[in-house]
Amino acid sequence: MAKAKTIYSCTECGGSVPKWQGQCPQCGAWNTLVETLAAPAPARFESVAGTRAAVTPLAAVKAQENERIATGLSEFDRVLGGGLVAGGVALLGGDPGIGKSTLLLQASAALGAARRTLYVTGEESVEQVALRAQRLGLVNAPIELLAEVQLEAIVATIAATAPEVVVVDSIQTIYTETLQSAPGSVAQVRECAAQLTRLAKQRGVVVIFVGHVTKEGAIAGPRVLEHIVDTVLYFEGDPHSSFRLVRAMKNRFGAANELGVFAMTERGLKGVANPSALFLSQHGEPVAGSAIVATLEGSRPLLVEIQALLDPVQGGVPRRLAVGLDPQRLALLLAVLHRHGGVDTGGYDVFVNAVGGVRILEPAVDLAVLLAIESSLKNRPLPTKSLVFGEVGLAGEIRPVQRGQERIREAAKLGFTTVLIPSANKPKQGMDDVRVLAVDRVDRALAALRELQ
Ligand code: TYD
Ligand code: MG
Repeated sequence: MAKAKTIYSCTECGGSVPKWQGQCPQCGAWNTLVETLAAPAPARFESVAGTRAAVTPLAAVKAQENERIATGLSEFDRVLGGGLVAGGVALLGGDPGIGKSTLLLQASAALGAARRTLYVTGEESVEQVALRAQRLGLVNAPIELLAEVQLEAIVATIAATAPEVVVVDSIQTIYTETLQSAPGSVAQVRECAAQLTRLAKQRGVVVIFVGHVTKEGAIAGPRVLEHIVDTVLYFEGDPHSSFRLVRAMKNRFGAANELGVFAMTERGLKGVANPSALFLSQHGEPVAGSAIVATLEGSRPLLVEIQALLDPVQGGVPRRLAVGLDPQRLALLLAVLHRHGGVDTGGYDVFVNAVGGVRILEPAVDLAVLLAIESSLKNRPLPTKSLVFGEVGLAGEIRPVQRGQERIREAAKLGFTTVLIPSANKPKQGMDDVRVLAVDRVDRALAALRELQ
C-alpha cells in the first residue's frame, strides 16, 4: 500500500515541517512536533469551486432530544446522561486494572441483546475476553469479538458487519498503515480516533474508546483526543478499596461532572444506588484531624471524610501533600488560615487526604480541610456526627455553596446532628434534629469549632 505523505506539526503553534526535529522552528517549543497526515495543498480561494450550502432560520428548526440507548447498567447510564447516543463517541479513561474492560464487557452484553455489538480487543486475545466473560457469568452474551489492531481492518469489518455499538479496547493499541510512528504514539492515537469518530458520525454508530492514563493522570495521547470525542469519562478509585467512580469530565449529551458509583465484586461491577455514606471511615472514637464534608458533584450528595495530619518539620522545607484534593488549593487554605485565623502551620509538614480514593474538585470542601488541619494541630477531634462544608475566600470569608439544603438533609438522613456551614446557606427554618452553626468568616468558624470541642 502506498504511504500517504506525512509531515510533522507542532502541537503548540500548529506550524509544520517536513522532517522531525527536536525544536519547532516556528515557535521554539521543544518536543512538540508530531507526525501527522499531510492535508492536500490548500487551493487559492478564487479557484475553489464550492456550491452554496443551505442556511436554516433557527425558528424553523424543531428542537429534538437525542434518543438514548440504555446500557442496562443504571450507574453507567447516569454518567452518560441517560444512555448512549447513536453516532456519539465516548472515551473511557482510567488507570490499568481499574475495571474499564470489565465495565464495557458488562455494558456490551446488555446492549448486545437489542443491538449488534462489536467488541474490538487490541490488548487481549478473544480467549482472555472469554475468560473474563465467564467470570462475569456472561459466556452466552450476544457480543461479537474482533481481535485486531489495524485501523483499516477494523473500519472494513465495521462496514461489512454494520454493528450499532463498537467498543475499542484500547485506542492506544490501534494503528494505521498510513503513519510510520509506533502504535500508541500521539500521531497514531489522534489519527485512529479521528477516523473512527468520522465513521461513527457517518454511520450513526455508537463508539466507545478505552484510553490509558499516563502517570500524570491525563489520557495518553494528545489532548485533542478529548476534543474529538463527545463524552469523556474517567474511572477513578483507590485500587485497594472495591469502590469505583466513573466521572463525566465532558459530555455533549448531558451534564458534566456527573458521577456513577460502582463496587468491584467477584462477579464484576455492581452499581451502588445510594452511595452517600460510602466514603466515611468507621471510627469507634472520634479522632483528631478528621472532618466530614458533604460534596455534591453530579446530582447526588456524597459524604466524604477529610483527614489531615500535621507533624513538626524534621529540618528542611515543610512538606505539603494533598491526596484527592487540589494541592494548590491546600497552599492557599494554609495561607488563609495563617492570615485570617492566626494559625501558623509554617513549622509543620501538612498532609491531607480524601478517604476512599475519591477526588474532590469542588471548593465546598475548603472549610472541612481547614478544620481538619486545625483539629490535627491542636490534637482535638471534631465532635462526633458533625459535618462541615463551605468555600473559603482569600479575604477570610466563608462563601455559600450550591444546594446547601440538600447537603444538610442528606447529613440529617445519615444521623449527623451538627452542621457547620456558611451563613448564606443557613436554612430559613430551624431543623429539629440538626444543630446548625452558620459562620461567615474563618476566625468565627475556628471559634465555633473550639466551642464545640
Ligand atoms: P479490568 O477490567 O481488566 O481493568 P482495565 O481494563 O481497566 O485494565 O479489571 C481488572 C481488575 O478487576 C482485575 O484486577 C480483576 C478485577 N476483577 C474483579 O475483581 N472482579 C471481576 O469480576 C472481574 C472481571 C475483574
Ligand atoms: Mg483492559
